[in-house]
Amino acid sequence: MRHVIDILDLSTEEIGGLLATAQDIIARPEAYSELCRGKKLATLFFEPSTRTRLSFEAAMYELGGNVLSVTGAATSSASKGESVADTAKVVSCYADIIAMRHPKEGAALVAANNASIPVINAGDGGHCHPTQTLADLLTILREKGRLGDLTVGLCGDLKFGRTVHSLINALSRYENVKFVLISPEELKLPSYVKDSVLKPRGIAYTQTSDLEGALPDLDLLYMTRVQKERFFNEEDYLRLKDSYILTPEKMRLARPDMCVLHPLPRVNEISVAIDNDPRACYFKQVLNGKYMRMALILMLLREAGKLPSAKKPAVRPLETV
Ligand code: NCD
Repeated sequence: MRHVIDILDLSTEEIGGLLATAQDIIARPEAYSELCRGKKLATLFFEPSTRTRLSFEAAMYELGGNVLSVTGAATSSASKGESVADTAKVVSCYADIIAMRHPKEGAALVAANNASIPVINAGDGGHCHPTQTLADLLTILREKGRLGDLTVGLCGDLKFGRTVHSLINALSRYENVKFVLISPEELKLPSYVKDSVLKPRGIAYTQTSDLEGALPDLDLLYMTRVQKERFFNEEDYLRLKDSYILTPEKMRLARPDMCVLHPLPRVNEISVAIDNDPRACYFKQVLNGKYMRMALILMLLREAGKLPSAKKPAVRPLETV
């Protein structure tokens, strides 16, 4: 059974295929509107979410399918002590595919090891968030026209930000991508990401705490929220939460074609005054997430033999290294 727990569970060819399918969905939504008729997606969310859960659910509805939903540990048998493994076995009796979010790193993998249907990781603690990365990649491709030859600034909570970890993994597989890691000392990218991805693949990266100094060189700026829920004490959170605030003044230092991304929710780190700047792409990113989740649901249901296999999408997959 094929699952997507980590973005590296998908090859670059498969990601190219998902990007092509998503672009075909955008061009011809009616061709997709009945493909999942009679199929059920279970969204099991044991941690707060607006975008990820609703975009998975909207994706399934737009494919003509149905949705079963758990919207918090408190209202499910998790509060009675049921394990993730048992939950996965039980939900496999009702649904065709699972999207799961959980506060514990590795929970989606446990679910995958116990489910008899495909499992998609919709965020496991501070570890990874592969479908946000799919949304990010489609946004980068649509805005910049490429996934290689990019200088990418990642700013904010690089320690606990799971979207950052998955995006670095994904972009490191394209040619000539450089990273500028912008964070306070306490929220630097974990060494396991550097040691397992950046260093072995010889990817160029610099670390700095200076957003203004980094801005002029960037093709993309990926802002992130300081992940309050992952802190051990409130004092540290309060000290670090406003480390970076992107304002119109700072945007003057950036290139006219730089693209600002943010997985959202935004707290304070991007001033609402730049929402109308044409370089602000974070709400487009939300919509792109729905298309990529549609493409992923289709791919996994087809691979599981629950849907007939695909005709080739009209758009050619992106060339990758
Ligand atoms: C992100 C997450 O849950 O990791 N949100 C999302 O899924 N779009 C980012 C965040 O919560 O800061």
